[in-house]
Amino acid sequence: MLRRIVAPTTTQPAYCREMRCFLAVEPLELSRKRVLLTGGNGFIGSSVLSALGSMGVSDVIAPARADCDLTHEPEVERLFKEVRPQIVFHLAGLNGGILANQKRPAEFYYQNLMMGTLLIHHAWRAGVERCVVAGAGCGYPSTAPNPLREDDLWNGSPQPESAPYALAKRMLSVQSEAYFRQYGFVCVVAVLGSVYGPHDNFALENAPFMAALVRKFCDAAASRTPAVEVWGTGNATRDCVFVDDVVDALIRCATRSESASTVNVSSGESTSIRNISEILRRLTGYGGAVRWIADRPEGQQHRRLDVTRAFRALGWSASTSLDDGLRKTIDWYVANYPRTEEK
Ligand SMILES: NC(=O)c1ccc[n+]([C@@H]2O[C@H](COP(=O)([O-])OP(=O)(O)OC[C@H]3O[C@@H](n4cnc5c(N)ncnc54)[C@H](OP(=O)(O)O)[C@@H]3O)[C@@H](O)[C@H]2O)c1
Repeated sequence: MLRRIVAPTTTQPAYCREMRCFLAVEPLELSRKRVLLTGGNGFIGSSVLSALGSMGVSDVIAPARADCDLTHEPEVERLFKEVRPQIVFHLAGLNGGILANQKRPAEFYYQNLMMGTLLIHHAWRAGVERCVVAGAGCGYPSTAPNPLREDDLWNGSPQPESAPYALAKRMLSVQSEAYFRQYGFVCVVAVLGSVYGPHDNFALENAPFMAALVRKFCDAAASRTPAVEVWGTGNATRDCVFVDDVVDALIRCATRSESASTVNVSSGESTSIRNISEILRRLTGYGGAVRWIADRPEGQQHRRLDVTRAFRALGWSASTSLDDGLRKTIDWYVANYPRTEEK
């Protein structure tokens, strides 16, 4: 069930200085729109799909990669000709943790850059009314001050471990702004923090860090492993946001934005990896030790997103506490994943 927030009410189009756009007076009604959702099989996309269903949006087309390779322009062109969408949520992407980014930097760069570029370009050509695409918080410069504001996106280089992915994601903001200036095309880039929740990718070789931690603690508790190994010192902090909150924000990006923009979507709170590990230890009942592997990379030291723009422009803020979100994630993992000793 999606959480509802009473958005700031406006009686006439209001210019939002934070987001540099006009707020829609009446939110766009999605139920009669044809929606194209990419990445609908994925972690965030599958949650958007079920949320749209529960909102009564029935005309949703969500092609899998096997149906349409979004890095291949003729296939993207054919997709838009066949579907003729009015609204696009672009949630396909190559996503993963530090290890996967280090091993496959070329793929992370090429696939994300091509998918974003082609999706926005063909959405514009097809006359799409609103397009929402997923950017990434790791795109922020490693030297930018916390909390990270949207205007700081270009004030330096991203952390080297995931720079190819991060820079491909930054290009979404360039393209969104360029297409609005030249064509008036409305594309919102939602810069996501560390998203976690049910249906995440829990495969250890390429799982994002939250899913990897949930898995490690659940498996260790089930098999009574004496120690859980976690990369880094535990001192790095992250801004974690539960997937249902992200879905709510993405839908608001589609229904409440009337110009191109880049907007942070996260909790706006930072938590250390050590603290997250302690919460997981408590929630899973794990009684063993945590062994910190300090010589393994832990990425950017501190990352917290400023979520003022999301609140002012979309009337959105995250409402799920870390405890509640992690409990739901653990419950889903335990119910849906084979345990270590069963594999
Ligand atoms: N999860 C996070 O914490 C996070 C944080 C920041 C940004 N993001 C961004 O948010 C978006 C969604 O992330 P996620 O965690 O939901 O990812 P995910 O679970 O890995 O799902 C990615 C989806 O992309 C699809 N896909 C990949 N390559 C494709 C291609 N060439 N053609 C068509 N479809 C393709 C996959 O389709 P198939 O299933 O059919 O293979 C999959 O459904 C991504 O753009 C990601 O970079 C995520």
